[in-house]
Amino acid sequence: MKKVLVLTGGGDCPGLNAVIRGIAKRARQEEGWEVYGSIEAFNGVFREPQEIIKLTPDRTAGIHVKGGTILKTTNKGNPIKFPVEQPDGSIKFEDRSDDLVKKLKELGFDAVINIGGDGSQKISKALFDKGIPMIGVPKTIDNDLSATDMTFGFQTAVQIATDSLDRLVSTAESHYRVMIMEVMGRDAGWIALHTAVAGGAEICLIPEIPYDVKKLVERIDLRYNNGRGFVNIVIAEGAKAKEGTITSSEGSKGSEHVRLGGVAYQLSKQLKDAGCKAEIRETVLGHVQRGGTPSAFDRVLASMFGVKAFELVLEKNFGRMVALRNNSITSVSLDEATRESNFVKPNSDIVRGAKGLGISFGD
Ligand code: F6P
Repeated sequence: MKKVLVLTGGGDCPGLNAVIRGIAKRARQEEGWEVYGSIEAFNGVFREPQEIIKLTPDRTAGIHVKGGTILKTTNKGNPIKFPVEQPDGSIKFEDRSDDLVKKLKELGFDAVINIGGDGSQKISKALFDKGIPMIGVPKTIDNDLSATDMTFGFQTAVQIATDSLDRLVSTAESHYRVMIMEVMGRDAGWIALHTAVAGGAEICLIPEIPYDVKKLVERIDLRYNNGRGFVNIVIAEGAKAKEGTITSSEGSKGSEHVRLGGVAYQLSKQLKDAGCKAEIRETVLGHVQRGGTPSAFDRVLASMFGVKAFELVLEKNFGRMVALRNNSITSVSLDEATRESNFVKPNSDIVRGAKGLGISFGD
């Protein structure tokens, strides 16, 4: 029997289960293949005893409609920067990739499919360079991978954020308030931008375009007449004022990233300090954007990615990541996949279009 190992790494994302099911279903159409899953990214391989499960039809039936990942995930399992707790409680990062390569070879997998974002695909590339037959599948609600036109999960996150904004608009209007809604987007403002356009916000603040607080107050004032009016602001968690820093806290122990969140409160204070008279309320949307059932679009995209990933395995076309390009499901080298991020370009059509709708970016 030939064996393929599947795993999900980094933050979860609606559509992960649809990819897993797509791989398993396509593999069942071929003679002599078995599909396995490693629990919690590569941690399932590292653990003694190992946590690797066979992806039988029972385990994958109907999972495409479920949020999360049946294989669990972690952002503390990078084999190249593996967090190891020291006797004094501090964390030291160690390169355990050689150990992982050895274990994967001993287990005799004919291919490994790594479903994850940019960090995970850098791991795929490093393992491929060390001789592991790797295939990558891109995922992230942030849509910040440049090698694919879209990642699954993004559309679902935008829908959730838009539904929330619609609700905030009506209460903003009733109370003549400024509503600030914070969405995810550490370095890329795609969720904020699409949500602001879809929900009809007046202000959209993203990491790629630093904002001037005075200009925001001017935009807000334009919407008020004798204290009456309302404004909706969508802000990405990584957005920053032209002057000042963003709110972050230490990441959880063993995580490589600081944790963002709370920039809505910071903006609220900046607006008040700059003379904004209107009443302001803040909503931090957080992880609801990442949970729950994927949209139909994301189920389709994720399922197609799963099928394509297994077909690359069949072709022995390793060292590649599946991608959506010009409406085709195709693949790119892991090299290309990890070369650059997909940030919002300040002079792109969508930013100009948003400005054409009267949305201010505070620039
Ligand atoms: O997947 C990326 C992301 O959505 C970022 O926008 C956000 O900063 C991060 O996940 C939060 O992830 P967690 O709370 O799981 O560390």
